[in-house]
Amino acid sequence: MIKPARIFDRDFEWRHLAAFAARDGGRPRLGVVSGRRRQGKTFLVEALARETGGMYFGATQATEAESLHLFSEALAEYTEAPVPPRFVSWDEAITYLFSVAGTRPRPIVIDEFPYLSAASPALPSILQREIDRAVARANSISLLLCGSAISVMGKLLAGSAPLRGRASLELVVRPFDYPLAARFWNINDPALAVRHHAVVGGTPAYRRFVNDDSPEGLADFDDWVLRTVLNPATPLFREARYLLEEEADIRDTALYHSVLAAVAGGNNTRGGIAGYIGRKAADIGHHLNVLEDCGLLRREPDLFRQGRSVYRIAEPLIVFYQVVMRPRWGLLESGRAATVWLDAKSRFSAQVVGPHFEQVCREFALAAPSDTFGGLPAEVGAGIVADPARRTQIEVDIAVLAPADPGEPRRVLSLGEVKWGEVMGIRHVERLRRARELLAGKGFDTRNTVIACYGGAGFDPELRTSANGDRVLTIGLKELYEQRE
Ligand SMILES: Nc1ncnc2c1ncn2[C@@H]1O[C@H](COP(=O)(O)OP(=O)(O)O)[C@@H](O)[C@H]1O
Ligand SMILES: [Mg+2]
Repeated sequence: MIKPARIFDRDFEWRHLAAFAARDGGRPRLGVVSGRRRQGKTFLVEALARETGGMYFGATQATEAESLHLFSEALAEYTEAPVPPRFVSWDEAITYLFSVAGTRPRPIVIDEFPYLSAASPALPSILQREIDRAVARANSISLLLCGSAISVMGKLLAGSAPLRGRASLELVVRPFDYPLAARFWNINDPALAVRHHAVVGGTPAYRRFVNDDSPEGLADFDDWVLRTVLNPATPLFREARYLLEEEADIRDTALYHSVLAAVAGGNNTRGGIAGYIGRKAADIGHHLNVLEDCGLLRREPDLFRQGRSVYRIAEPLIVFYQVVMRPRWGLLESGRAATVWLDAKSRFSAQVVGPHFEQVCREFALAAPSDTFGGLPAEVGAGIVADPARRTQIEVDIAVLAPADPGEPRRVLSLGEVKWGEVMGIRHVERLRRARELLAGKGFDTRNTVIACYGGAGFDPELRTSANGDRVLTIGLKELYEQRE
């Protein structure tokens, strides 16, 4: 089945969806498609239903009775019945669905499934029962459940959930990675691509939100910001707020905004967040869990200190909102974007692009082929190495570890430092060499550890002519974007 031209990339996802929908009579199939909002789930599954002549039903927040009514209308269209069937319960509706779909080899898509199961908690068990019956009856229904509430979709197939073990497709639709995002927006200049990605990330919907307006070049970036994300007339303007408000589990948004502001401002440990918002660390555990569950926050372990971790915001737009927009919301709403942006530009560079550039470099390292660091990366992250003799600690921005070998010391493939706005020199390399020495003392295998400098503003020439033959890898903007073409 040919992927429609309007779908950019997503070849992997389309291949699996097409295989799922392909005729394979004699047994029922269940697929689950999940992922954060705006990543293009509906776009994909709706296209699949359309290409195959299957049924697409997009649930909304509604009562059970209203949902049943809407579902029966979608079903009538699919079966070409002149009058929609009348259902009094999901039990009836699902039994009917299996009876009519079992003989039609076309997929049934139920989108925004969490809205249905929220109003009708028995729905997953009803589906389980019908799927098990369908096995016995050689019914060949292909049922695709799709949804954004990661907490609900994740639990659908987990642990003792009724549908566990019954799915043959489990697809997570993620944002485009940073090189792909640049291509999606037609951006060829890496210096522009990094800044642009620090605002809209790899979320496909945001291109539509700004009417396909892409910056024309680095010189157009400021104006692009004013035309799009800081412009109250674009949907992108309010998006960071909606992302929180649309989460069913989030009620008191004020506290959640404060947690995100803390992390965006660089207070990214649990204690740091609690201190920033004036609560005890024990009192924010629930909020952190909810934000993690809905995919807005990520917890990343410190690779050198067991049990320590930091939080990072998963969606760049939220960082941008917290640092640039939220403190000046009133001015922005009244159309004073130019003033706000002028005042915010240094914060944007230091608090938005700087940390974001680190993240881009970590993604680069994780996807690096084995000849970059002399082995395939298994884990990439930041880590802190204590230096007791000098009474200090060294923060390593990008540590790359090889897969763990039981009984062997953990191999450190690379230690790297990232600088967005500063030319990198030998002092950065010296710190990393010191960290390497200390890690060797802690039992890591550092014999082949590559020292790496990731620079957004270039490198001192002396870096490449290191005296003792110890290779220093320099990765600039060009390298970040060219390798994965
Ligand atoms: N692969 C893609 N190529 C082009 N546009 C896309 C792609 N994925 C998503 N979009 C755009 O993003 C919009 C929102 O996607 P949607 O399917 O509603 O996201 P989700 O269902 O995950 O919340 C789509 O209507 C489309 O304009
Ligand atoms: Mg959708």
